[in-house]
Amino acid sequence: MIWKPLSQSPHILARLPAVVAAFALLECGGVIAQTNNHYQSFRFGACYYPEQWPESYWEADARRMQECGVNTVRLGEFGWTLMEPREGRYDFSLFDRAIETLGRHGIKTIFGTPTAAPPKWLTHKYPEVLDVLATGQPVNDQSRRQYCYNSPVYRRFSREIVGALVRHYRDNTNIIGWQIDNEMNCENPECFSDSCRAAFRTWLRGKYGTLDELNTRWGTVFWSQTYSDWGQVDLPFPTPAWHNPALMLDYKRFISDSATDYLNDQVKILRRYRPGDFLTHNGVFKNINYYTFSRNLDLYAFDNYPTFEDSPRYSTGARLTLVRGFNGCFMIMEQLTGPAGQTYLLRTPRPGEMRLWAMQAVALGADGLLHFRWRSALRGAEEYWYGVLDHDNVPRARFQEFKREGLELQKIGPQIVGSKVVSEIAVIKDFEDEWVFDYQFLTKEVNVGAVYNALFQAASEQRYNLDFVSPTADLNGYKLVFAPQLALMDDKLAGRLERFVENGGTLVMSAHSAIKDRDNAFTAATIPIALTNVFGVELDSFQTYQPSSCTNNAICFDNGKVAPVNVFAEVLHPTTARVIGRWQRDYLKDLPAATEQRFGRGKAIYYGSLFDLDAARHLINRYAGETGLKPLLADVPEQVEVTCRTKGGTDFYFLLNHSDSPVPVNVGDGFVDALTGKAATASLTLAPFDYRVLERGRLAE
Ligand code: GAL
Repeated sequence: MIWKPLSQSPHILARLPAVVAAFALLECGGVIAQTNNHYQSFRFGACYYPEQWPESYWEADARRMQECGVNTVRLGEFGWTLMEPREGRYDFSLFDRAIETLGRHGIKTIFGTPTAAPPKWLTHKYPEVLDVLATGQPVNDQSRRQYCYNSPVYRRFSREIVGALVRHYRDNTNIIGWQIDNEMNCENPECFSDSCRAAFRTWLRGKYGTLDELNTRWGTVFWSQTYSDWGQVDLPFPTPAWHNPALMLDYKRFISDSATDYLNDQVKILRRYRPGDFLTHNGVFKNINYYTFSRNLDLYAFDNYPTFEDSPRYSTGARLTLVRGFNGCFMIMEQLTGPAGQTYLLRTPRPGEMRLWAMQAVALGADGLLHFRWRSALRGAEEYWYGVLDHDNVPRARFQEFKREGLELQKIGPQIVGSKVVSEIAVIKDFEDEWVFDYQFLTKEVNVGAVYNALFQAASEQRYNLDFVSPTADLNGYKLVFAPQLALMDDKLAGRLERFVENGGTLVMSAHSAIKDRDNAFTAATIPIALTNVFGVELDSFQTYQPSSCTNNAICFDNGKVAPVNVFAEVLHPTTARVIGRWQRDYLKDLPAATEQRFGRGKAIYYGSLFDLDAARHLINRYAGETGLKPLLADVPEQVEVTCRTKGGTDFYFLLNHSDSPVPVNVGDGFVDALTGKAATASLTLAPFDYRVLERGRLAE
């Protein structure tokens, strides 16, 4: 997954790491922002399931939420069976009463459209709506997310329920936003239904126009795969030998477009009846290009469960940063609260970690945060997924920690909402490249997610903000850009990279970049295709060391630093570039492994292996200074994460102690504590898992 690594059941496998509306779009600072974003103020709260509790609980729930600074809940996202108990018979009365009760306590609602969990009457009467496995077997309907995006019948029912819902709440002033569906592609990132097969053929016709064109670009002459009829083109069902990589990449694009199209069905309906509300969707999973998927949403929402990893500081930071880059505005819809599990149980957050991780999300740009969930469920699949309150409804330590966090965010939230993490380092993250590696994984060690984590970690360690940006982003605002394993290259991207360097930027590209065109096919050009001129280098040959490769060779830089090989050891042939690193041993000893050349007013660096943490640390250290980057804060102990969000002339520095011991920090003078509004002392001590937000006017510097 990209994002939540798990370990079992389809739900878990789906999460393994690898992890057109009426709006004008603006390019700003490398991200796309909508001109009239309806997401305005900082939202804090919890995911609430009134339908799972006696109504006699609700009033006390709302009172307690209010006491904790809650101003928002999300509800409704799995309630279809209550909202439409029989086909075409709608009943929203339970939600009316819950929304009204919460509203009386000043709590607004983000309504989740209920389409992630269709009612039994629907799946039984219309089994063609079910998602189908690669074996051809429809999934069983005894859980959730069991439907196919391309089923015309499901699309009709989902439009109808969303239409009925939004018309019912047309004038409700307690609703402020909508979450569309829930975690698309989480449990079922692929579907092999007849509807998908037909839709795939239509999609391919739209893309290629003629079968001749498809045959040529897919190279179907290989293995006698030439199609003479559109009816012969199929989804990538299991086959005796390997699939065509062009088919595999198009299939992923098709899934992403299908999910986006399904989402946009609901966007259109919601915009029509509630034009002032914000729209979002939650979660990051496989086979969705989130840059295009989120284009018609006001903001993106991430579901943040750090305990899927033992030591989540940097990996969670990288994920949050990635989500920030989707459409420029994001919130956390589900933040981990306590022990969590389904059939498994993850490690329990230590006292203070819940609040720290929530603040890490805010520190990295989240403009709102809801915890999952208000109270731990007594029954059903998620009995082990703990909420703010325990099953017996007794407020204990987690409740107190939540309350502390809520009351703090009541003060900090309004100050920082809308502020931006301004970065001078960007990493190009192309979902299509990730999809290339999903199928052609090369060696077990190639781990695209780990490369992003390494770059994020190295920048964070050296106290720089960093952005992940789409391959179509405007790179102008950045000084240092990393291009990790950009396998697919096209003239437009190559042109953008060339102009970035020409105009003074520093570009660092790794091995296995610019090797293929967008058809996922090799070309007759020398690698790096379309960029040999910019880098002044050509790929001569490569060795792929098998796992674990790092012990087999290393790049020795001209300044004495060493970085171990990561899978690829490329031998470079510099045409005009200067060699800055050579292979340390094996038959590659002393051959060029990394090069640098001035191009225009900038510099292009080619790194002949995949980036890992050592390489990322060295390259950021080497080029950040040279490009004039200034660390956010100097001399902060390693245990403390530092980020900065900026609004107008004010910088908000977040200091987060990720350790279980107190850490003294000397920040110097001139800061105001955003929580107390008072001048901060130059030296302060952060308690275990504690944080501070320090504010400084730019002009004061
Ligand atoms: C999310 C999902 C929630 C709940 C939670 C805990 O993935 O959106 O509905 O399942 O995880 O597992």
